[in-house]
Amino acid sequence: MCGIIGYVGSKNAPAILIEGLKKLEYRGYDSAGIAVLKNNKTIITKEKGTICKLEEKLKENMSTTGIGHTRWATHGVPNKINSHPHKVENITIVHNGIIENYLELKEKLINKGYNFKSDTDSEVACALICDLFKEKNDMQKVLEEFKKITRGAYAIGVLIDGVEDKIYAIRNKSPLIIGVSEEENFIASDVPAILEYTNKYILLEDMDIAIIGKNDISIFRSNKKIKNDIKIFDKKVDKIDKNGYKHFMLKEINEQPDVIRRTIESFSKKDLPNLTKYEKIDIVACGSAYHAGLIGEHLLSKKLKAVITTHIASEYRYKDINPNFKTLVIVISQSGETADSLEVIKKANEKNIDTLGIINVYKSSIAREVKYLVYTKAGFEISVATTKAYLSQITTFALMVNSKLNKEEIVKAINKTLKLEQDCINIAKKIKNQENLFFIGRGIDHYIGLEGSLKLKEISYIHSEAYPAGELKHGTISLVSKNTPFIATITDEVISEKTISNIKEVKARDGNITLIATEDIKVNEDYYDSLIQIPKVQKDLQPLLAIIILQLISYHTARLRGCDIDKPRNLAKSVTVE
Ligand code: M6R
Repeated sequence: MCGIIGYVGSKNAPAILIEGLKKLEYRGYDSAGIAVLKNNKTIITKEKGTICKLEEKLKENMSTTGIGHTRWATHGVPNKINSHPHKVENITIVHNGIIENYLELKEKLINKGYNFKSDTDSEVACALICDLFKEKNDMQKVLEEFKKITRGAYAIGVLIDGVEDKIYAIRNKSPLIIGVSEEENFIASDVPAILEYTNKYILLEDMDIAIIGKNDISIFRSNKKIKNDIKIFDKKVDKIDKNGYKHFMLKEINEQPDVIRRTIESFSKKDLPNLTKYEKIDIVACGSAYHAGLIGEHLLSKKLKAVITTHIASEYRYKDINPNFKTLVIVISQSGETADSLEVIKKANEKNIDTLGIINVYKSSIAREVKYLVYTKAGFEISVATTKAYLSQITTFALMVNSKLNKEEIVKAINKTLKLEQDCINIAKKIKNQENLFFIGRGIDHYIGLEGSLKLKEISYIHSEAYPAGELKHGTISLVSKNTPFIATITDEVISEKTISNIKEVKARDGNITLIATEDIKVNEDYYDSLIQIPKVQKDLQPLLAIIILQLISYHTARLRGCDIDKPRNLAKSVTVE
């Protein structure tokens, strides 16, 4: 989602801002822009589309102070006018987040004579800052007042015409850090954006206000200047490179043997709380991480007495956590920045409820907030559609119930499964022109279907639904007619007979079945149209192999349809708004 970068120093700000924006590209965006201060005025360049397009538009503007932004549209379509930076009179801002009461603020500002060019809440925030600045003439006081008037989430960088060497910043519920260096300082949505220049950073907390100059940084918390707490980012960030693959997604699918090896090798039970002491475990996440949670629930329920339930974070955050049970909240997140998941952790912390994070991104916001933390070892994931991070999340749950997984066996089986790519291409050719598709399975196989369905939808734009196989006959089977496509998964032999019965019901109505089954599960060939057999491994890891097949089918279907696989339309890698 939106990304922010800012620079104040002695070097050429536009070049640094563009490089910083490129590092934030993975978050997903649809337009980009920068503002630099020159001769006491900001010069703004912004464009719909890629950062390269923006770069082409940049004029030779030597400046040593500036702010930049990648926008992922929330209020108003992706176009140049709605993109950031926004300028109102002498104030220029970049904003990540959502100002919830912007309409009411906009009305008041219109009554005061302000005009708005864009449809955004961000331009309203800019006008509000401008208006308050006229009255107070002191940006710290302005931002203190801004906090009181606005509702919502924001990370904002501000420039003032006439103030050449200062960036002002404020954050509330959207990520923002300050990069600290010699005679130059930065603001950014995350640390990797500034790592080329410095690994020293200050984390802004919610409601902090900062004034950043090239040699000085002042941070105000509850209206008082606080001591700067400079941290060191002590980890190397992976090189961003497709390594010969056409897309990051395919590269990341093929990295999964290494990912599982790393995840198993680095797992330590010491990072976990004593799981047996809880009466209730709530697993909370969004999207694919939620699907990994369902598998986690399935695995943990077999071992623990606690009542274990998986929840979607955007729903859970508005529910009350029953204080009568000793509860653990487990949040799963690749990015560690997902706004809804972060709020769940904050709410649990406020109520003194134990939290465990299963997080991929080092020192991300959720990683910093949880009481117990397990880092998944997927490495940097660029493709918006998650593959290797999801796999490492399921592996982590498998390790939580059995820390002695047979690493060599599973790595070998994953490599063998990856070799089934041509079979997946054949299925992709078969489904590429479909408009609708069903994924069916029971139990853990249904959870895999949910993930397969999400993968296919998000990158190929084919509508699909994942159904528990036994539920079809309660309504949905009415949609089955000649050649309606189904992808059925059977990896759990205990319930294989039952799923086979449901497959027969589909076949009896002329549906078309692609079956993904573990090699020892025997299904009469009359009941399917295509079959992909995956190797057999120890039970808790079996889902991993089936999901790799579904990832490859989705990938090749999207490729054959000519979709923008790594950056699917309307999606962002890290979802930092509610
Ligand atoms: O960063 P997170 O794991 O918290 O993200 C959660 C979802 O937004 C994410 O899994 C999303 O569903 C993926 N794009 C799916 O491929």
